Amino acid sequence: MTHQHFSAHAPVTVLGLGPMGTALAEALVKRGHPLTVWNRTPQKADGLVGQGAVRAATVTEAVAASPITIICLKDYPAMYAILDPVRDGLRGRTLVNLNSGTPREAGAALDWATERGAAYLDGAIMVPPFQVGEPDAVFLYSGPQDVFDEHRTTLATLGDPRHLGPDPGLAVLYNTALLEMMYATVNGYLHAAALVGSAGVPAVTFAELAFGWFMPTVVDSVLAEQAADLDQGIYPGDAGTMEMNVNALEHITRTSVEQGVHSAQPRLMKEMAERAVAEGHGSDNYMALFEIFKKAAR
Ligand SMILES: NC(=O)c1ccc[n+]([C@@H]2O[C@H](COP(=O)([O-])OP(=O)(O)OC[C@H]3O[C@@H](n4cnc5c(N)ncnc54)[C@H](OP(=O)(O)O)[C@@H]3O)[C@@H](O)[C@H]2O)c1
Repeated sequence: MTHQHFSAHAPVTVLGLGPMGTALAEALVKRGHPLTVWNRTPQKADGLVGQGAVRAATVTEAVAASPITIICLKDYPAMYAILDPVRDGLRGRTLVNLNSGTPREAGAALDWATERGAAYLDGAIMVPPFQVGEPDAVFLYSGPQDVFDEHRTTLATLGDPRHLGPDPGLAVLYNTALLEMMYATVNGYLHAAALVGSAGVPAVTFAELAFGWFMPTVVDSVLAEQAADLDQGIYPGDAGTMEMNVNALEHITRTSVEQGVHSAQPRLMKEMAERAVAEGHGSDNYMALFEIFKKAAR
């Protein structure tokens, strides 16, 4: 007899015990879910077995052990490599795939699972492994609403589950968009810190002003406010035009050169704004750059 007979929590299987899969498995087992695990390198399950998880000898056995299987492998090809041989064993099971990937890969995975009689949700994890299980650890999901609703309680064990819609590609697309925003923001900060650093200002001094006041007060609130205008394509330039912003970006580029710091990043931003002017947005506000970003580069 296993511990499964004594738990009120749904049994769960986790496939893939890299740093993230292990964090998912630990959160589930700690909160009382009967847990079955499988990993290509079986020794990685040792610690979890010590905490009460069951190590399945095969993927087929692992998928059979629970109605829901959470997959956290390196990528989609790894998922197909281990689950294709299971064939009929997928019928009637729910697969929740948390690999990173592209929207097209997520869509193909939903079709692949449907062909094999399995329910499928795609997902993306927005936090590092150590934050898994915290109430504000956001997990993004997309795919059939009923599948999400059925397993919402189990998914809530991992953090804060957000269902973005039935289009299976949405979770990985949001994930990619947020990551891109993170890199662009981090790069903006790093370049700005290098600029003031060229005058001997420590990053800690700069960060106080940048994050204590500038970002929340001047940047974040303005961007959130203008989201509706983006949707409508309304870019009134009465408080500042694209032409004015080209001048500001030219000024940042020149200052970077003058201070002896890298200038490629402001130069690229200036070129983007110049493109917007060339396409007729010179008297719109800076947010009209959205129109340039929406099109593939020529
Ligand atoms: N770590 C993070 O901070 C983080 C944050 C958000 C999202 N994610 C995403 O979570 C997923 C897992 O990430 P991770 O950090 O745990 O490490 P990872 O290196 O991306 O994945 C490791 C897992 O994939 C397995 N694997 C790789 N190729 C395989 C194959 N051909 N056949 C079978 N298994 C294979 C590994 O098995 P072995 O142990 O046998 O090598 C291990 O279980 C990734 O998609 C990643 O993008 C990670």
